[in-house]
Amino acid sequence: MILVLNGANLNRLGIREPSVYGAQTLPELEQQIVAWGSEMGFAVTCQQTNFEGALLEWVHTAAENGFQAIVINPGAWTHYSYALRDAIAGQSLPVLEVHLSNIHAREEFRHHSVIAAVCVGSVIGLGAQGYKLALEYLKTRLELEKPDYTDPPNQIAPRMA
Ligand code: DQA
Repeated sequence: MILVLNGANLNRLGIREPSVYGAQTLPELEQQIVAWGSEMGFAVTCQQTNFEGALLEWVHTAAENGFQAIVINPGAWTHYSYALRDAIAGQSLPVLEVHLSNIHAREEFRHHSVIAAVCVGSVIGLGAQGYKLALEYLKTRLELEKPDYTDPPNQIAPRMA
C-alpha cells in the first residue's frame, strides 16, 4: 500500500500555470496514479492539502496506517519546510520526492530541496510520468525486501557439542 501526497497549490493543476505544469487536473492525475499502481499490484491512496500540518500528520501516521512507502510532491514546501524534512527523517518508510517541473531550470529559490537528503531519491521534471517512475522503483524495492519463503530451509547440520 503506497501513500501519494501532494502539497500546496497542487489542487490547482490544470488551472495554475499550464505552460509549466500542464493541462491535467489533480483528479485526473490521481486517477492515473491509482491506475498505474493497480497495474503494478499496489493499492495507492492519494491525498492533497494546502495545510502544512495536515501533510506532516499524514507523514507521521503513514506507517501505522499500513503504508509501505510514501511518494511526495510537497509543492513550494519543498524549498523551505524544515518541519517537513524533520517529519520525513523521523519516520521509518522510504520516501520518494517527485516534481512535475524541472525545479533546477527555474527560479533560483526552487533549486534547493530541503527534503532531498532525507528521501530515497527524487524524480524531477518528467511531469506525471515522475509519479509512475517512483511507483516502478518502489515495486522493485518492495519486492526485494519481501522475505522469500520459497528458500529451502537452512541445511547446515547442528553443531555437535
Ligand atoms: C513543484 C515545484 C515547486 O517549486 C512548486 O512550488 C510547486 C510544484 C513541481 O511539481 O514542479 O508547487 O513541486
